[in-house]
Amino acid sequence: MSEPLFDVENLYVSFPDPNHKTLFGQMPMVEVLHGIRLKIEEGTVVGLVGESGSGKSTLGRALVRLLDPVSGSIRFAGTDITYLDENALRPLRRDLQVIFQDPLSALNPRLTIGTIIGRPLQLHGLANGRREALKLTQEALEHVGLPTAFVARYPHELSGGQRQRVGIARAIATRPRFVLADEIVSGLDVSSQAQILTLLADLKKDLGLTIVFISHDLSVVRRLCDQVVVLRHGEILENRPTGPLFEHPEHPYTAELKAAIPLPEVDGDWLNS
Ligand SMILES: Nc1ncnc2c1ncn2[C@@H]1O[C@H](COP(=O)(O)OP(=O)(O)OP(=O)(O)O)[C@@H](O)[C@H]1O
Ligand SMILES: [Mg+2]
Repeated sequence: MSEPLFDVENLYVSFPDPNHKTLFGQMPMVEVLHGIRLKIEEGTVVGLVGESGSGKSTLGRALVRLLDPVSGSIRFAGTDITYLDENALRPLRRDLQVIFQDPLSALNPRLTIGTIIGRPLQLHGLANGRREALKLTQEALEHVGLPTAFVARYPHELSGGQRQRVGIARAIATRPRFVLADEIVSGLDVSSQAQILTLLADLKKDLGLTIVFISHDLSVVRRLCDQVVVLRHGEILENRPTGPLFEHPEHPYTAELKAAIPLPEVDGDWLNS
């Protein structure tokens, strides 16, 4: 078997503990992830679920090295990225993209959509000059179902769903191998949510993208994800293919989560429709 895209071994992450500030000396640390082991195969969508504060976002941010782990290792595409500094990470950044929960705060209000998507392409050397950046930006907009004329617009001139599409277009424009999607539909109305999720499923199919999808909505996770990782208190309780995990939860906590899926369930064909 080929090497997984991500291979995480015994990963520990801590943050300074603001509740135990001392007047002198270092702030004590609180450990948030405890010995995470996780393999992610290329081309799969992995759901990260678990109650608030269980460490989902922290694990996601560690994967794309938006934070510094304390110990353990993260291998990405065969490279140990655990302790690389930002300089060393720069060539990898195009492959490690993030779609944020709140597109309005994630998109610079003073820049046009064209600049928001196009500038990173030039920075990563993926476009030679502004003309080519513009062309690739328009392609990315088409890919997410937005008019190419949106290059001239500003974020506040778009609807929430359109802004989230811009966030996705920006993430895929660099042709990344990996995208972290952290609660990306929670601020949207139900129909925009369904459209965004259909788009994600298409992108996985079209681009062979590997996605870590963090969500509280288990009915969505069940439909979209190939694999589900259940986190609790910074540890992985279960990590299995979606079908078996929901049909026969091994851990009582997973069974509880499953029982909390709201009824009635969404139509099973909505992702295909
Ligand atoms: N930058 C930070 N500094 C200090 N503590 C942090 C930081 N980020 C997260 N934490 C703590 O780490 C723990 C895990 O947080 P995390 O955001 O990963 O949880 P989560 O599972 O994503 O929760 P939610 O579902 O609410 O988004 C929490 O106790 C949180 O308070
Ligand atoms: Mg979170």
